[in-house]
Amino acid sequence: MTPPPDHSPQHGHSPQHGNSPRPLPTPTEMEARYSQSAQLWSGKPNRALVDFASTLRPGTALDVGCGEGADLQWLSDQGWEATGIDFAPTAVKRTRERGLRAYLSSLKDFDHPPFDLVNVQFGGIPATAAAVAKLESLVAPGGKLLFVHHDWESTEMAMPAWLANNLQQLEVIEYRKLSRAVNTGAGAGHAYDLVLTAERR
Ligand SMILES: C[S@@+](CC[C@H](N)C(=O)[O-])C[C@H]1O[C@@H](n2cnc3c(N)ncnc32)[C@H](O)[C@@H]1O
Repeated sequence: MTPPPDHSPQHGHSPQHGNSPRPLPTPTEMEARYSQSAQLWSGKPNRALVDFASTLRPGTALDVGCGEGADLQWLSDQGWEATGIDFAPTAVKRTRERGLRAYLSSLKDFDHPPFDLVNVQFGGIPATAAAVAKLESLVAPGGKLLFVHHDWESTEMAMPAWLANNLQQLEVIEYRKLSRAVNTGAGAGHAYDLVLTAERR
């Protein structure tokens, strides 16, 4: 595995591309984005999810920040018992319209027995000990976490390298850069993703 750069709290976050630091998205901002278009994202499952989950035996899965449900749909089609949460009402509505199970909730407020797989793709997860603890609490014994984001600098939002250095209970499996080819939707235009996988042994 490529060791992630040290982004532990005492070192702060280092700029990766000289981007402006990204603030945490709010539910109000995300809802405004959804309400401005009939479909915000590409509608295709994220490559990192397809790569990783294809290596696992289907069980229960949680998609944190499920958006319009493309990842949930793929998980469900592969035999996973998949549940999504999103803090934007229109995202939850669109996911439910596909016949998928989704709840209107932020990660912070979501209480549920743990899952075999927790998928977080481009979520606005605070870079705090409380958010790390909540995320870890949702991963079952033997379960896996897949946490993906753009190569952004942020002091507020958990990025994969920061999370790798701040997990308390899960063990890092791998941290890697993954090229992406998303050409449609609001996620187009990024050359690669940063991908963290971890597990509870
Ligand atoms: C960039 S979108 C990605 C959507 C989808 N996972 C995908 O890759 O197509 C991130 C989604 O996460 C939701 N979100 C962000 N932070 C969240 C949080 N802390 N709790 C719940 N939902 C969150 C947003 O409303 C948005 O729908």
